[in-house]
Parts: sequence; C-alpha cells; structure tokens
Amino acid sequence: MRIEGVITPATASFAQDVREGLSKPQKELLSKYLYDDIGSELFEVITLLPEYGLTRAGQRLLKKYAGAIVERVPGHVIVAELGSGSGKKTRWILEALSRRQFTRYYPIDISGAALARSRSELGEIPFVSLVGFERDYLDGLLEVAARRHNGDHLMVLFLGSTIGNFDRPAGEAFLRELRALLRPGDSLLLATDLEQPIHELELAYSDPLGVTAAFNLNLLARINRELDAHFDLKNFEHLAPYNTQERRIEMHLRARVAHSVEIPKADIEVSFREGETIWTESSHKFALDEVRAMAGRTGFRCEAQWVDGEWPFAQNLWIAT
Ligand SMILES: C[S@@+](CC[C@H](N)C(=O)[O-])C[C@H]1O[C@@H](n2cnc3c(N)ncnc32)[C@H](O)[C@@H]1O
Repeated sequence: MRIEGVITPATASFAQDVREGLSKPQKELLSKYLYDDIGSELFEVITLLPEYGLTRAGQRLLKKYAGAIVERVPGHVIVAELGSGSGKKTRWILEALSRRQFTRYYPIDISGAALARSRSELGEIPFVSLVGFERDYLDGLLEVAARRHNGDHLMVLFLGSTIGNFDRPAGEAFLRELRALLRPGDSLLLATDLEQPIHELELAYSDPLGVTAAFNLNLLARINRELDAHFDLKNFEHLAPYNTQERRIEMHLRARVAHSVEIPKADIEVSFREGETIWTESSHKFALDEVRAMAGRTGFRCEAQWVDGEWPFAQNLWIAT
C-alpha cells in the first residue's frame, strides 16, 4: 500500500472550495484563503507600504477618536472583533474602554497566525482579557454571543474595510445575519474605505515593491503546499484594476501562457487559456451616505461617522435598532 497523506476536514473543505471555484466560467478562489501563515504575514507588510493608506487612516481615526467612540457606547461593554488580524489599532478602543471598566475582548479570525499576533500585540493591556476564536466571522460571533452575561453591551468591530470584500448585496445579507446575533442597543464599528481617484486606489493594490503580488500569488503556493498541486507561479501575474461601474478593486491572477495544472487533493486538472484570470479578491469602495443608508436597511441606525483628513476612509458607528 502507498500512503499518500491524510485529508483533514479543513483540507477537505479547502479542496472543495478550490474545485468549485476553479470550475466556474470566471475562475475564482475565495479571498479568505489568502490568509494562511504566510499570507497573514504578507498582509502585515502591505499595511506598512506607503501606497496602502487604508490602515494608517483607520489607525489615525481610532487614535484620535477612540474616547469619543466609546463614550457613545453605554453600559458594560464586551468587544468582539471580526477578522481581527494583528489587532494593532484595536489597542486604542480597548485602552479607552479599560479606563472605565474591565473589558473582555474576543478577536475572531480564520487565520491562527493572525490570532497569535493579536495575542502578542494586545495581551498585556491592563484591565483587558483576551480569548481568541479561530473561526469564520459569524461562527465566532455566535460563540461570543453565547458567552455574554445579562446586561453586557456587545460591541462588534469590523475594521480595515474588510466589509468591502463582499459584493454589495452579499455584504448587506452578511450585515443582516450579523444583526440577528445582536440585541437592540448593541453596536457595530464598521470601517469603510471611501471612493477616491482611481490612480491612488490602483497603486494601493499594485505596489511597486510587489508585496501585494506576492500576497496574491501565495494563494497558488498554498494550493501547492496543502493540496499537492503543481502551479508554476511564474506562469501567473498579479492584476488589480479598478472596476468603475461596480466601484471596486478586483484582484486577479492572470495566466501568462496556456497550460494545465493538476490538483490531486481536489481531484481536478484545471486548464488555463493564455490571458485567462482567477479572481481572488474584491475591495469595494463606499460613499458616506451609502453607508448611512446601508445601516437603515440592515437593522441599525448610523450614530456617527468619523472621516480621515489624509486618506478617504471612515469609521462608522452603528447601533442595533
Ligand atoms: C483585510 S484583513 C484586515 C485585518 C485587520 N482587521 C485590519 O484592519 O488590519 C482581513 C482579516 O480577516 C480575516 N478573514 C478573512 N476572511 C475571514 C472569514 N471568513 N472569517 C474570519 N476571518 C476572516 C483574515 O485572516 C484577515 O486577518
């Protein structure tokens, strides 16, 4: 007998998503798979790039307004963060809260590497406890909701404009599902990257150093590592054009030549035409009034919006109605 490996439940669902995504007419891979250990580290480097202004804008806003934000959130607050990443900028919110109460903080991220980073980044803040969940967003939030005590106000953070990874209708459906896990009066701090000149946006996702390209290509390398595939990364190039009609950056990997790739653990062989692309991520951009209207349609009211002066980016505080 030749033993070729073991398929765990996590590998099986990755394999199934890869098989389904690469069998579509427009090939695609779910953006959540960009974040394995290497992808999460590369994302942290992206946040330092001069061209990627989003993260610094979000940080500036929280540094300046964390006090004003938590003042608008009354009572005893517990904090859940969706897609928490390194959690670096969450420090401002946790410190502001810890000046008035002991705070239970629950980061939720699909990436174990990201959670480990947030533990070392935030684990030492006095009057804050941290319990992380390596889960999909709403599976994690369900677990947090089950741990709340009577009288706790649940504050959910969804920072970094990660909501922009959803198509607009899917994003609203997601926000409605999220709302169903909350009680009236709970809050959501939702970060949104705003529309701005195309040149700036395209540069943010196609940096000259090539870090975003490496982040994107790592998804194929991950398929090689985890599903025993044979992608030759030299056969693909990173693209991230702005789609004006849909108001989003679309990140793709384009085949430089016609070729086929075997993915044994997904039981498929995939053929690529020259120039054909795999769509790996979308980053939708928003308008301030659109965000206010979205709140009303998903079971919230928009309590306040704070906008950065250097990079068009907003922190929006919503209250569940
Ligand atoms: C764009 S990064 C943002 C990180 C951080 N919030 C920030 O503002 O810098 C998205 C984060 O969400 C996580 N993520 C992506 N899809 C997810 C999912 N379906 N469930 C849970 N976490 C997810 C990724 O691992 C990553 O850490």
